[in-house]
Amino acid sequence: MKILVLGGHGFVGRNVADVLRELRHEVTSLSRRDGLDLTDYESTEKHITDITPDLIVNCAAEVGSLNYVSMKAADIFDVNMRMLLNLYKAVKVGTPDAVIFNPVANCAFPGISEKYTESNLWDGSVHQSVFAYGNTRRMMIVLSETYSTQYGLRSINFFVPNMYGPYDSTDPNKAHALNALIGKVVKAQREGLGQLEVWGSGGAIREWLYAPDCARIFLQTAERLDEYGWDEPINIGQNYGLSVRELINIIVREARYEGAIVWNRSMPDGAPKKVMDDTRFHKQFPGFIFTDLVAGIRETIRYYESIYPF
Ligand SMILES: NC(=O)c1ccc[n+]([C@@H]2O[C@H](COP(=O)([O-])OP(=O)(O)OC[C@H]3O[C@@H](n4cnc5c(N)ncnc54)[C@H](OP(=O)(O)O)[C@@H]3O)[C@@H](O)[C@H]2O)c1
Repeated sequence: MKILVLGGHGFVGRNVADVLRELRHEVTSLSRRDGLDLTDYESTEKHITDITPDLIVNCAAEVGSLNYVSMKAADIFDVNMRMLLNLYKAVKVGTPDAVIFNPVANCAFPGISEKYTESNLWDGSVHQSVFAYGNTRRMMIVLSETYSTQYGLRSINFFVPNMYGPYDSTDPNKAHALNALIGKVVKAQREGLGQLEVWGSGGAIREWLYAPDCARIFLQTAERLDEYGWDEPINIGQNYGLSVRELINIIVREARYEGAIVWNRSMPDGAPKKVMDDTRFHKQFPGFIFTDLVAGIRETIRYYESIYPF
């Protein structure tokens, strides 16, 4: 199968491309650094038409920390909407039989919900801390549905919790929550820092997905496209959350950091709790075994140790 991974040099895209290549699919990774600019329609159409993939895994986005997406709210909305609008239009023109996989960040769900169920997506506004980015993620669902209705384009949408694992950016504005914590602790341990500041109160509860697990789910889906059940969005859910404080305890222990953790409560926590209902996931992926959180954190610590200093 000819697969195009958009944003294939980013955190999620690189994990996805690695796993898809293992199974000898013909995988092309494209992102800004290859000359593709999804904010530009001509560039988007040219690259899509040149490759004419059977499957597009859409891991391209302009995204970063909570602070980054709030400070740059207008740019985040503008750039991400243009990328999505150009992508769908170019697929319609250049490769209308291709299937598009969208990893939709779970910040698309209503900010007040504690448990995210696919059918409750529209039951309230996204959390204020992710107003711009979360609304662009909702538009992935709108684009999928409207392009399906009018042009017959096929998209498969996965709601995805926060991910962690290898290959994330080490830029503090860009690194994702758990990876940023792991990177900070590894750095502090290597540099023998006596104390380490962590933003927020530590009380926010989140569900965490090991990025290579997300990649394995995409691979399984790619190989079962003819089956039923892909028309509705699916949570990649485990219905299991852990507080940031509990996570820090695991990281500190696994990285053998001996300094103190200081919580900077002046920084926002974001939504208090986010866990994903896993009912539909179990129907669609019976028997799928997620990587144990401690084992995944251990692997990610090894990754950060291997790229130190960063
Ligand atoms: N990370 C998570 O925890 C998580 C969780 C749930 C869902 N997701 C979703 O997964 C997707 C990818 O996230 P990520 O964490 O992998 O982000 P990331 O590490 O920042 O990667 C984004 C990728 O998009 C590319 N890109 C940005 N602007 C572009 C443009 N104008 N034209 C072409 N490519 C462009 C980047 O290119 P360069 O590398 O060349 O700069 C990069 O490869 C997003 O939709 C995100 O919401 C992520």
